[in-house]
Amino acid sequence: TTGDTTLDVGFVNTASCTSEITYIDGDAGILRYRGYPIEQLAEKSTFLETTYLLIYGELPSPSELEAFDQRLRRHTLLVEDMKNFFDGFPRDAHPMSVLSSAVSALGTFYQDSHDPHDPEAVEISTIRLLAKVPTIASYAFRKSQGQSLLYPDNNYDLVENFLWMTFGQPTENYEMDPELAKALDLLFILHADHEQNCSTSTVRLVGSSEANLFNAISAGIHALSGPLHGGANSAVLTMLSQIQRDGGDVKEFVRRVKNKEDGVKLMGFGHRVYKNYDPRAAIVKKTAHQLFEKAGPNPLLDLAMELEQTALEDDYFVERKLYPNVDFYTGLIYESMGFPSNMFTVLFAIGRLPGWIAQYREMITDPATKIGRPRQVYTGSPARDYVPSSER
Ligand code: SDX
Repeated sequence: TTGDTTLDVGFVNTASCTSEITYIDGDAGILRYRGYPIEQLAEKSTFLETTYLLIYGELPSPSELEAFDQRLRRHTLLVEDMKNFFDGFPRDAHPMSVLSSAVSALGTFYQDSHDPHDPEAVEISTIRLLAKVPTIASYAFRKSQGQSLLYPDNNYDLVENFLWMTFGQPTENYEMDPELAKALDLLFILHADHEQNCSTSTVRLVGSSEANLFNAISAGIHALSGPLHGGANSAVLTMLSQIQRDGGDVKEFVRRVKNKEDGVKLMGFGHRVYKNYDPRAAIVKKTAHQLFEKAGPNPLLDLAMELEQTALEDDYFVERKLYPNVDFYTGLIYESMGFPSNMFTVLFAIGRLPGWIAQYREMITDPATKIGRPRQVYTGSPARDYVPSSER
């Protein structure tokens, strides 16, 4: 009981919603999309197929996947007027700010498909967002580099098209690196959904007011940009580079973290739900090893592994059940692919987009899965009368 309101605090711990999409067991380190273990999807599926699974609930037949692929390829172009939109940003605008604004602006070109209760409107908005967000993301990057924007080439699939539009040059043929495309495809699978994390809950909450899908996704992108959420992947690289600049003394850095000096945290470690090793982090770590075996040793990877080993053997982290999360190794891979660190969270957003859309669609069609209006436990002043300013 606080103030003049008595609330059963027990309600604070109830689940925020029900959902059939993703299952996490934080203690056992289990993650499943529509019942399929992340390890099997990572090994056997593709980002396109996993996107289909999350949104429509079942793995597609070959003909369903082909039709889905073709539909997306036909929607990768942006309305030509959208190109002017990118000119309005300063060169050093963070690509996440450009992405979230552009997604909301994109919706203004499709006023006819905003009704969240019209299945056809939600379906075409789904296709437009899945197909056009990689285009917008590549444009945000190229504008920041002062480069010309490239039209999508629909001979490529979604991931390859993103790489072409990001790294291609209009003056020469682009040599698609299948290993790179495959590694990025895998990383997108690993990021595709994650139950009611901060950004997904934001998409649900904004969507619960019947805001259209474009605006709900734009809100989710903003939520993801925070360094404690999706922004952690670039914060890890900043942390590793700083340790390296300070002479590579991992033990000294861990001592500062344990003493909470200047609020320093071990970025890429810890999780609201996983109190065990994040199953995605294990897969990303293996991918990093495979890539760097080919690309040559990466001193920051060695530093990351020493940091992980030191933390995992230290009671401070063990007692608090702090393990590497999905963000600990991803930044090293993205950097080796040629992305600057301000694009790492944009890559997270491209991966998470199918999950956001799937969860919005579920919430719109099944009110039982709506996140109710969050309540609070009031801890402020009891009721009191107004005091005239002359008596204050
Ligand atoms: C993502 O929810 C999701 O699913 C998110 C995500 C997804 O796929 O959508 O998985 C993606 O956001 C992964 C998390 C990325 N963020 C980071 O890596 C940033 C660093 N991590 C921390 O900020 C933190 O671990 C959180 C926010 C992720 C989780 O915090 P918790 O579990 O709520 O823990 P807490 O903040 O209550 O802290 C508990 C204790 C505290 O110490 P004491 O007060 O007990 O002494 O653990 C300490 C914290 O100081 N702690 C850390 C730490 N994380 C928690 N200490 C050092 N480094 C850390 N990273």
